[in-house]
Amino acid sequence: MQRTLVLIKPDAVQRGLCGEIIARIERRGLKLAAMKLVQVTPELAHRHYGAHVDKPFFEGLVRFITSSPLVAIAVEGENAVDVVRTTMGATNPVEATPGTVRGDFGLTIGMNLIHGSDSPESAATELALFFDDGEIIDYERDIDGWIIES
Ligand code: RTP
Ligand code: MG
Repeated sequence: MQRTLVLIKPDAVQRGLCGEIIARIERRGLKLAAMKLVQVTPELAHRHYGAHVDKPFFEGLVRFITSSPLVAIAVEGENAVDVVRTTMGATNPVEATPGTVRGDFGLTIGMNLIHGSDSPESAATELALFFDDGEIIDYERDIDGWIIES
């Protein structure tokens, strides 16, 4: 079982798309293990997107991610990292397949609605940036026997 970090980015919060995006994650069979609204500080933005510090788009990315609150979610499930990434769609909404979040709601790469960790290793690092251990809740769902093959 894997956990991954999902961020419903400021553009999606402003557009009232939180429920739509959370519904897609739930319908996929993934489980919500923690969730909160966060006003990201420049310091947290630098830590979260540290891998991109030398990229030309970094300054704009930090400005965007700190511009308004986002929703941080710890998402759990089999292959959660890859399943969230396919649910999101390609980074550039122009290339994202219809049926994905970015392919259905996005137009430009700078406002692409959703973040998902890109590997189990970055998931662990990113989850620790947004959640204390006690905030991620381990619980059973009765329906899991109809979602996960034993
Ligand atoms: P994210 O980290 O936000 O989930 O997105 P991602 O993995 O699909 O893409 P990543 O390469 O990690 O890039 C992080 C965010 O930076 C912005 N970006 N802009 N102008 C550009 O060429 C460019 N490239 C990336 C995007 O908003 C992307 O989500
Ligand atoms: Mg990324």
